[in-house]
Amino acid sequence: MHRREFLQALAGFGLAQSLVPVLRAEPAAPSLRQLAAERGILFGSCLALKYCVQAPAYQQLFLEQCGIATPEVHMKWDSLSSQPGVYDFSQADSFVSFCAAHRLLVRGHTLIWHQALPAWVTQQMTPANGQQMMTAHIGKVAGHFAGKLYSWDVVNEVLDPGSQRPDGLRDGPWLRNCGADYLEPAFRAASAADGKALLIWNETYLEVSNGFGQAKRAALLSLLDRLLAKGVPVHGIGLESHLRAEQAAILGDAAYEAFLAQLAQRGMKVYITELDVQDSSLPSDPVARDQAVAAIYQKFLTSTLRQPAVHGVVTWGLADRFTWLAGYRPRKDGMPVRPLPFDADCQPKAAYYAIARCLESAPARG
Ligand code: XIL
Repeated sequence: MHRREFLQALAGFGLAQSLVPVLRAEPAAPSLRQLAAERGILFGSCLALKYCVQAPAYQQLFLEQCGIATPEVHMKWDSLSSQPGVYDFSQADSFVSFCAAHRLLVRGHTLIWHQALPAWVTQQMTPANGQQMMTAHIGKVAGHFAGKLYSWDVVNEVLDPGSQRPDGLRDGPWLRNCGADYLEPAFRAASAADGKALLIWNETYLEVSNGFGQAKRAALLSLLDRLLAKGVPVHGIGLESHLRAEQAAILGDAAYEAFLAQLAQRGMKVYITELDVQDSSLPSDPVARDQAVAAIYQKFLTSTLRQPAVHGVVTWGLADRFTWLAGYRPRKDGMPVRPLPFDADCQPKAAYYAIARCLESAPARG
């Protein structure tokens, strides 16, 4: 869609008009946003602007339930730049304006990731220019939004025990072209460009207590200690938390809580950043499935929220109508996946009530 058509589409659904602040319609039951706020916790979800165009009811639900929003795609490198050095911030700017108009905080996502790279970056980047390309991108994007974002996912998914390196880093384009110390210049460049946003290291599988997850935890703590000893501005850790139903037994256990405590000891703020529950291994019956999914939300969040260093819970979508898992982890029986707190018609499911209960019983943050 071209920019003009996109803006027309937004205008057609009242999005453009909503760039002036409007009063939120309050739902009858307390929203997850309110329940979280009462405990000093942020609750939110990811959003792509097209969902608001496709389903105004979803926009309404989002605004009722969320206090913070992550752009699902709009700030990724390949969404911002299709040609060398040329940036088009129009959609990302619309996202930030939409959030400002509705008093939603914004999690910037994401500056450095091995995915969503435009072809020209992969083609042009070499060990000679890699670090310069990385810091120029961070400076450009973080500088563009300076002062407007709650936080930035400065680096995303940089660990991979499968790469078999002693430091645990992923053998990917950043490591190969910027060297094994690239996290330091990445965080320093983000801090120089936006001194206000919290600077986050966002990572997968840290929440899973198996060998893979334990290896990631150890690698993260050791790299983090080195960064903090050098005064590198890392303010928080994001745990993506794309949970899998078949791993219920190794989620939210004592080893996980011990890891959260280790992050807290290092002064880290902790965020659950992309929470959903993959139901592809669960039975077909939607009622039984919803109960099993809710039980995993309940177990994981009860354990997570006990740790006062956890300041936010962000799901990766709010209602089953818009979930990346429909394409990424479809069910073998062909039935629609049900990984989120609300169903495809934006009605609350068992998972919503589980999340609400966990927020209600979480200790209040100072
Ligand atoms: C996903 C989006 O949900 C999809 O729409 C997109 O096609 C691919 O990326 N980890 C992340 C997110 O950090 O950015 C990913 O989002 C999901 C996994």
